[in-house]
Amino acid sequence: MVVFPTETVFGIGASSLNHNACREIYKVKNRPQDNPLIVHFANSKEIETYAILSNQARNLLERFAPGPLTLILKKKNDSLFSTGLGTIAVRIPSHKVARRFIEESKTPVSAPSANPSGKPSFTRNEDVVSYFDGKVDCILLEKATDLENRIGIESTVIDMSSDIPKLLRPGSIELEEIQEVLGTKVELPQNPGVISPGLKYRHYSPEGRLHIFQSTQDILNRLNTLGDNLKVDPKDNIAVNSRKIAILAYSNTELNSVEELTKSFDASSHSCVFKIQYAESNMDYAKKLYSFFLDCDKESVAEIFCESPRQGRLYSAISNRLKKAISRDDSDH
Ligand code: TXA
Ligand code: MG
Repeated sequence: MVVFPTETVFGIGASSLNHNACREIYKVKNRPQDNPLIVHFANSKEIETYAILSNQARNLLERFAPGPLTLILKKKNDSLFSTGLGTIAVRIPSHKVARRFIEESKTPVSAPSANPSGKPSFTRNEDVVSYFDGKVDCILLEKATDLENRIGIESTVIDMSSDIPKLLRPGSIELEEIQEVLGTKVELPQNPGVISPGLKYRHYSPEGRLHIFQSTQDILNRLNTLGDNLKVDPKDNIAVNSRKIAILAYSNTELNSVEELTKSFDASSHSCVFKIQYAESNMDYAKKLYSFFLDCDKESVAEIFCESPRQGRLYSAISNRLKKAISRDDSDH
């Protein structure tokens, strides 16, 4: 088992031909048995040994591979590890270390994201080392320069195994771009968990309670009322215990007022603001989201305030991850 960086998030991989090693991955991650793994390839020619590539699937690979795209295809044979579905998920990562690792392995690599099941995916060397050191055979780290290109959230998943293409997981490659290549509509299944077993589980969740706000002003308003509550009702359990709050918001001038307000918070013994994480753009937001959640967990942050993403590239992907992170109910998706 090898942990390796990709342009989206880190993966934990084993040879897809070594079914026992693939099964070990489930133990290390505590991953539900019915959740299949993505098979990572070095090039699209190799995919054809194991899966049926329609012309449309080929068009998508020509346009977006190597890159953050995963296609669900019909299997040609049973040589690769699978959970018994008639399909396999395939992806050709663009990250240099990932590509070299797959090429030199001389085998397709089955890999889910490298993180304990249900937790945010890992996007930093320090996170993979602290969780996986001693649990796997090897950890491939990345250079600081690779970090600049990190997308930070997982690949776009498109089901190309039937006549109607379906978007199973939004990512940084947008629906519109895919439709443009295909020349047809891509369906948005009401319940993608039926096709993609992993989507029915809770994901990406920090320990603290997550709240989404439409604007920085809304965050400010909430902080204000929180302050009032603390003063008005000191008997309230939550108010008496000092608790940490963390904020992820787009850089703007209103954040100055948030900072001012939080100073008065920190001075009181009730609550303190652990961190204000600034995002410059949707790209920056996506890049920082999971590491922000993990930092919150490390610091036992109780309340996490996130500004909702802005329209444009990555809007759907970020909204999707926030929605899943906020959901405390495993059964509703
Ligand atoms: O960016 C990524 O895709 C990262 C990097 C490491 O490549 N990988 C990743 O893997 O996010 P994972 O296992 O966390 O998510 C894979 C998703 C799951 O929702 C899984 O259920 C779905 O893809 N999937 C895998 N094989 C499938 C199949 N045959 N049919 C439908 N869905 C499948
Ligand atoms: Mg995952």
